[in-house]
Amino acid sequence: MNRWLRLAALTASACCVAAWASTQGTQEDKHGKADAERMIQADACELPFRDNLVDVVVSRGSFQFWPDLRKGLSEIYRVLKPGGVAYIGRGLPESLPPETARRMRSEQGKDMKYDPAATAQQLREIVPSLGIKDYHMHRPRIDNPEGINYGLWLQFCKPKLDEGGAVKP
Ligand SMILES: C[S@@+](CC[C@H](N)C(=O)[O-])C[C@H]1O[C@@H](n2cnc3c(N)ncnc32)[C@H](O)[C@@H]1O
Repeated sequence: MNRWLRLAALTASACCVAAWASTQGTQEDKHGKADAERMIQADACELPFRDNLVDVVVSRGSFQFWPDLRKGLSEIYRVLKPGGVAYIGRGLPESLPPETARRMRSEQGKDMKYDPAATAQQLREIVPSLGIKDYHMHRPRIDNPEGINYGLWLQFCKPKLDEGGAVKP
């Protein structure tokens, strides 16, 4: 068994790939891949990975830019291995003190304002429709008295399979 975790970072932005490549002392190739495929330029809605490949997907602050949220989530589910887990979210760390969170939110322009409850509802409608049964929505510090928006995280898992390839109960 391969005990090493191989990481790939995915971005839609060519300049992120170039910046990563320059920090690694290498150059991205014509497919936008840099440094042994660790930084890859692609659209989350068309992941350049085969089915059932990935143990963990973490995406922060990105899904709001995807051209098709449903397609992006279905792509992530497709590439997850059975037993794999995805964390897709946006917002602020739960450990961030409210005074810092309040200042950060007040410095953000109106384009960064969103309703996490509405977004959570949107995700709750999409996720089961993709056949994903094991999912959980996390709203950090949802009950903070000032109503500061700490964002939201969606976690979902792909069921494990038994030796015969059947979904484990
Ligand atoms: C606000 S930045 C977040 C960066 C970082 N993950 C963070 O938490 O600070 C948004 C990121 O989403 C990526 N992005 C935007 N549209 C995308 C898409 N369709 N597929 C994949 N990534 C996308 C951008 O390239 C950018 O890296």
